[in-house]
Amino acid sequence: ASTMRVDVADLQPGSQLRVLFLGKPVFIRRRTEDEIAEARAVELADLPDTSSRNANAEGTDALDVNRSIDEAGEWLVMTGVCTHLGCIPLDNAGNFGGWFCPCHGSHYDISGRIRQGPAPENLPIPQAEFVDDTTILLG
Ligand code: FES
Repeated sequence: ASTMRVDVADLQPGSQLRVLFLGKPVFIRRRTEDEIAEARAVELADLPDTSSRNANAEGTDALDVNRSIDEAGEWLVMTGVCTHLGCIPLDNAGNFGGWFCPCHGSHYDISGRIRQGPAPENLPIPQAEFVDDTTILLG
């Protein structure tokens, strides 16, 4: 299987890195304390898709604790492909402080979960883990 190492040493809180992995964009966001708090305050009942869609935690629910790749919730890694028809969502956009897909108006929150619009599922989380303090391994 193919893997990719991403150096995240220079990524500041509140910003996002985008890499191409297996032909698809992968978003790596380093969240601020406020963003983590906002994401973790959301209850399952408010989510259209209650699955975490996290390849690293299969079968878990969509609470934010099951979406980040670190326990503190600082690091969010997602496949950057809208679950509606595959456009690339824009970051820092939309009604829920996360991502917005301009193709048909899907709004994702700061955990990458679908909140409004036609997309049926949360943005998926690919296999990803930290292999040292500043390197994320994809795949
Ligand atoms: Fe994103 Fe349709 S492809 S809303």
